[in-house]
Amino acid sequence: MINTEEMNGKIKRVIFSENEIKAKIHEAGEWVSMEYKDKPLLLISILNGAFVFMADFCREVKIPCEISFMCAKSYYSGTVSTGDVNITMDVTQDISRYHVIIVEDIIDTGRTLKAVVEKLKERNPLSLKVITLLDKPSRRLVEFEADKALFTIPDHFVIGYGLDCAEIYRNLPYIAEYDESR
Ligand code: IMP
Ligand code: MG
Repeated sequence: MINTEEMNGKIKRVIFSENEIKAKIHEAGEWVSMEYKDKPLLLISILNGAFVFMADFCREVKIPCEISFMCAKSYYSGTVSTGDVNITMDVTQDISRYHVIIVEDIIDTGRTLKAVVEKLKERNPLSLKVITLLDKPSRRLVEFEADKALFTIPDHFVIGYGLDCAEIYRNLPYIAEYDESR
């Protein structure tokens, strides 16, 4: 376990503040509340990274909705993707009765969401859309596009607001660039 000084030393700079994130999420919530009014709505979040985003996002959705979680792992540790996507926890709902929105933290290579979306589409949801907090389009290894990306960022490894580096930093209230130099 790293100590507090080491942890803080790796936070290079804040990219998006709490207020900036809040404003974007409010807009996205308004959009969903209008678009899905009177429709059976299921929000599905991909753990662990998207738990903070889901918690704030669902509270900006002002219409009835159900909330569920899946677990998909594609990073074992550090900043290097292994390329393997393993779905380790699944939703319990019969999603053919719902309009589904996947609530994701970040799209990097695109592998995780492509695998998850393919799996969910086989179950014939009424519709399926993807909202991601962050998008790194320059890193794509498979073709994949979100229906809504709140922030588009260059090829930096980022931490905070649910995003980790080796499981640390998820509790930072903002999104920061991780210092990989030392
Ligand atoms: P994928 O490469 O699009 O499959 O992304 C897989 C997962 O890697 C994401 O859901 C995140 O949990 C994680 N990830 C990708 N880029 C970053 C990053 O910059 N910081 C922290 N986690 C990341
Ligand atoms: Mg994730």
